[in-house]
Amino acid sequence: MRVLLVSGASGIGRSIASAVVDRGGEVILAGRQRDSLDAAVSELGPGASAVTIDLGDELSITQAAAEIGPVDHIVSLAADHANGPITELDPGAIRKAFDAKVIGPILLAKHFSPQLREGGSFLFFSGVAAWRPAPGLSVMVTTNGAVAFLVEALAVELAPTRVNALSPGIVDSGAWDSMGSGKDTLFADTARTNPVRRVGQPSDIAAAALSLLTNTFVTGVTLHVDGGGRLA
Ligand SMILES: NC(=O)c1ccc[n+]([C@@H]2O[C@H](COP(=O)([O-])OP(=O)(O)OC[C@H]3O[C@@H](n4cnc5c(N)ncnc54)[C@H](OP(=O)(O)O)[C@@H]3O)[C@@H](O)[C@H]2O)c1
Repeated sequence: MRVLLVSGASGIGRSIASAVVDRGGEVILAGRQRDSLDAAVSELGPGASAVTIDLGDELSITQAAAEIGPVDHIVSLAADHANGPITELDPGAIRKAFDAKVIGPILLAKHFSPQLREGGSFLFFSGVAAWRPAPGLSVMVTTNGAVAFLVEALAVELAPTRVNALSPGIVDSGAWDSMGSGKDTLFADTARTNPVRRVGQPSDIAAAALSLLTNTFVTGVTLHVDGGGRLA
């Protein structure tokens, strides 16, 4: 299994990379920060390599497609946030959020679908916020929600290539570390209110991602791996 992982050097993507390498597969880590990609490649060992992709730059995607050659699966976990009151949002930040979650995945499908191996698939990342709207999260809700519709459309257009989405709940991926003590409050509230009574771990998401990549009868779905958080 040869897998391109956009945003695979850290967080949930890094956990998926380890899971693929552990089962004898090959990962190509893609992202904007070459240093962190190279560091993750040396940790993962001979099954890993790196390529530079900025989902806001179509040329970088075209060049990566030519450089990498055929792959089995494309996974994109990229996210860029534009949170805050709607009256204060910066259009540039909004566009970057759409580049990372919506336009970037469309461009990945455009440039990589012709070179996907038989039985291959795309996996894009949505998020529980889409099903839990709240003030200040309108862009996050919309971009994550768009992913769920995008995979249905692409599953039809790219058939028999499979196209799926995964929607994590609150996961201790490192993404929340900058919140300081706010992270503890968020995690305690999540564990108190969601049906499984805990936050997620990257390994929870990696296990579900591997299932979506390998189950050849699943396409056009958004799998909620959120501890039931969207229902709480
Ligand atoms: N962690 C959670 O609790 C949670 C909850 C719901 C949904 N999710 C979703 O799950 C996915 C993975 O989450 P995570 O917490 O592991 O990751 P994360 O910390 O949100 O990291 C996302 C990464 O996307 C990369 N990125 C942003 N714009 C990009 C672009 N234009 N081109 C290429 N890369 C770009 C950034 O890399 P650089 O800045 O280094 O380039 C960043 O490291 C995300 O899609 C996230 O929205 C996570």
